[in-house]
Amino acid sequence: MSDWSSKNPYKAELTENYCLTTEYSNKETRHFSVALGDSGLEYKAGDALAIIPHNPPELVADLLALLGFSGDEAVETHLGEQEVGHALLHTYEIHRLNKKFIKGLEPKFDSSARPVDVRLVGRSRAAVSSGEAIQQWHWSGEDEDFPADFHPVGGALDPSYTLWSSLVEDDEAMENYIWSRDYIDLLGDFPHLLFTPLEFVSGLDRLKPRLYSIASSPDAHPGIVELTVAIVRYEHHDRARGGLCTVYLADHTELNTPDIPVFMSPTRSFVLPEDGDVDIIMVGPGTGIAPFRAYLEQREIDGAKGHNWLFFGDRTEKGEFLYREQLQHWLKTGHLTQLDLAWSREPDKPKVYVQHLMQKHAAEIWVWIESGAYFYVCGDKNYMAKDVHQTLIDIVEEYGEMSADDAKQFVEVGMMKEEKRYLRDVY
Ligand SMILES: Cc1cc2nc3c(=O)[nH]c(=O)nc-3n(C[C@H](O)[C@H](O)[C@H](O)COP(=O)(O)OP(=O)(O)OC[C@H]3O[C@@H](n4cnc5c(N)ncnc54)[C@H](O)[C@@H]3O)c2cc1C
Ligand SMILES: NC(=O)c1ccc[n+]([C@@H]2O[C@H](COP(=O)([O-])OP(=O)(O)OC[C@H]3O[C@@H](n4cnc5c(N)ncnc54)[C@H](OP(=O)(O)O)[C@@H]3O)[C@@H](O)[C@H]2O)c1
Repeated sequence: MSDWSSKNPYKAELTENYCLTTEYSNKETRHFSVALGDSGLEYKAGDALAIIPHNPPELVADLLALLGFSGDEAVETHLGEQEVGHALLHTYEIHRLNKKFIKGLEPKFDSSARPVDVRLVGRSRAAVSSGEAIQQWHWSGEDEDFPADFHPVGGALDPSYTLWSSLVEDDEAMENYIWSRDYIDLLGDFPHLLFTPLEFVSGLDRLKPRLYSIASSPDAHPGIVELTVAIVRYEHHDRARGGLCTVYLADHTELNTPDIPVFMSPTRSFVLPEDGDVDIIMVGPGTGIAPFRAYLEQREIDGAKGHNWLFFGDRTEKGEFLYREQLQHWLKTGHLTQLDLAWSREPDKPKVYVQHLMQKHAAEIWVWIESGAYFYVCGDKNYMAKDVHQTLIDIVEEYGEMSADDAKQFVEVGMMKEEKRYLRDVY
């Protein structure tokens, strides 16, 4: 065992980074292998790996330029004193706005606390796309010396004040605003607001580690953790943006370089049955396949005799059949008793989701459940897991010949709480 943690992560090496989705896909789901080296880190099938990413360096550079900071200014953070450039790279989340930051701008619109009070001594702003200087300004030492475009804020004619008020007074407007913007957009919308380095960082969210369900068995891949990661990329206001950790893993890591901060996030509940003879049903569309690949590898190595039934799905067979060869191999050898594939965006075909296939095989699922099978779900929490949950209750109701209330009780209390054989890893 080891004591690597969020405060003391192990610097692991990425040894593989490739796309699982094909040229026919407009998603980008990647397979990563992370070498645990001499860390002493151990895991079991079902555990997750925590990764502490950093922000994209070019985003930090653009932000420093817009704020007029050199990057060397010292700021006090929850992790102690840091240079602001380092803090923006490693300590805070800067890729998406938070409400607290926007609400905290209030004193800046108060005429008694005009920005000159912060004694800003220089400001340079550059175009984000071209890097071309938009403004270079240095304080002359005179109290009334302001940047050329500076005028006192907070007055009735100040459009940025009007925007700010509309956000803080309307929660929906605030949500919509922060959904598609980051601090670079904010500085563009509020060009007159000036910040000291400390003022700026104190409103930011702390950078949080991200968890990834491990897609490998430690016995099949000693010393290695494998991950299945959907890279989050999108475009708003003519700028490419993305998820902090997924873009970090996909674009900002070097192979075979020990610089990925990680620690283990073990699970106590999302585990294989101790008895290898017990059957398992796994429902894992998209990246939800990850822990089930680990389970299948583990049960194969253990020689577990229980049957394995997997429901997987994604958009198209040609584009997103993740781990196709391995799954088909297991089907051929009989290690996978049954593999049901739900493709949701096949051209000219109706949308099929995993729960539709569960419905199709409802009678058989009930037979498995009645004889003690474990039922696992992994993947999207907001829609898929809820629909799968309801489908399971419906199956129990119909084939177990129970009332709706009894079926709910059977699933939510019996299987889930008492027998702990309905297990979920959803996010
Ligand atoms: C136990 C657990 C296991 C997990 N396992 C896996 C796994 O195996 N594989 C995997 O891929 N993920 C997994 N996740 C999710 C993972 O932890 C991250 O949440 C995910 O990768 C996104 O992280 P990110 O830092 O790239 O995105 P973030 O920077 O955190 O951004 C994600 C957010 O971006 C926002 N967003 C998305 N699209 C848009 C858009 N078009 N416009 C504006 N905003 C948008 C959404 O609000 C979304 O919540 C798991 C999570 C948990 C809790
Ligand atoms: N921004 C991006 O580029 C992007 C792209 C993909 C995923 N993501 C995010 O990344 C995370 C992980 O994505 P993922 O690759 O694991 O897969 P996912 O996006 O959750 O989708 C996997 C499969 O589940 C289907 N699905 C959607 N709603 C469902 C429901 N109610 N019941 C059952 N199945 C349902 C999807 O179909 P349909 O999609 O056809 O409805 C798809 O076939 C998700 O949180 C997702 O929001 C972001």
